[in-house]
Amino acid sequence: MESPFKSDVLKGKVALLTGGGSGIGYEISEQFGKHGASVAIMGRRKEVLDAAVSALESLGIRAIGLQGDVRKQEDAARVVESTVKHFGRLDILVNAAAGNFLAASENLSPNGFRTVMDIDSVGTFTMCHEALKYLKKGAPGREDSSSGGFILNISATLHYTATWYQIHVSAAKAAVDSITRNLALEWGTDYDIKVNGIAPGPIGDTAGMRKLAPNEMAIVARDSMPLYKLGEKWDIAMAAIYLASNAGKYINGMTMPVDGGLWLSKPRI
Ligand code: HXC
Repeated sequence: MESPFKSDVLKGKVALLTGGGSGIGYEISEQFGKHGASVAIMGRRKEVLDAAVSALESLGIRAIGLQGDVRKQEDAARVVESTVKHFGRLDILVNAAAGNFLAASENLSPNGFRTVMDIDSVGTFTMCHEALKYLKKGAPGREDSSSGGFILNISATLHYTATWYQIHVSAAKAAVDSITRNLALEWGTDYDIKVNGIAPGPIGDTAGMRKLAPNEMAIVARDSMPLYKLGEKWDIAMAAIYLASNAGKYINGMTMPVDGGLWLSKPRI
């Protein structure tokens, strides 16, 4: 689908995206690139990163792939440093890496719970922490910018209510939303950095949907949700461009649900 944004809204920006090699993370990488940004994508699997970088380069996007696991602080630090070394600056960090599986609470081991908290919540904080010095107003490489950088945390709507077999992810994304608000307060005040989130609803053609909603469930959901359809990765990427561009310059500390209103929905009486 064609973008409603001008193709230079992110011109000159450098973005680092965790989980940027696949799914929603890849779509944001591609759309950021199509709108003028250079992109560094971080992920655990080299073959996924290589394929994503080739695809981005074939679209004329400046891209590099950096292997790493957000659960390891040394990986986070190395990937941030490599991004700045390669592109000369860092303007945008997108935390899109996530882990998920369905498990009833009574069958979920504490290590399973911890694994998702480590990827989604601690991983998000670690990446923000390592990127901070390059995102500050006047940081090395971005002296030309009149403001600090931007952090976007990909969240979910699961924890707005309660979601069956998703206690680990609900807890992890609730923590992500708190990280978004607290960093927006502290780093917005001290460094002019904006921190926002996007909470995608059910988005077609993603690992999340394949894991959480087998086909028939997706069809049932489509008939019972506001707007009557699954979202597209494109919907998330457009929201991301809005928040990352100058259009979103006064938005800070907010997590925007992009779910067609699904989280509000209740059975009709
Ligand atoms: C119960 C499970 C499990 C399952 C893993 N565990 N899978 N428990 N049911 N299906 C438990 C293991 O038993 C283990 O605990 C612990 O979790 C760690 O498992 P590992 O396999 O060692 O972890 P790891 O190899 O690091 O893999 C992490 C992962 C994996 C999260 C489990 O699925 C992953 O890497 N996923 C990344 C890709 C992904 O999930 N993308 C989708 C994101 S979608 P024990 O006690 O046995 O040691 C998303 C959308 C959310 O986030 C909202 C949608 C609306």
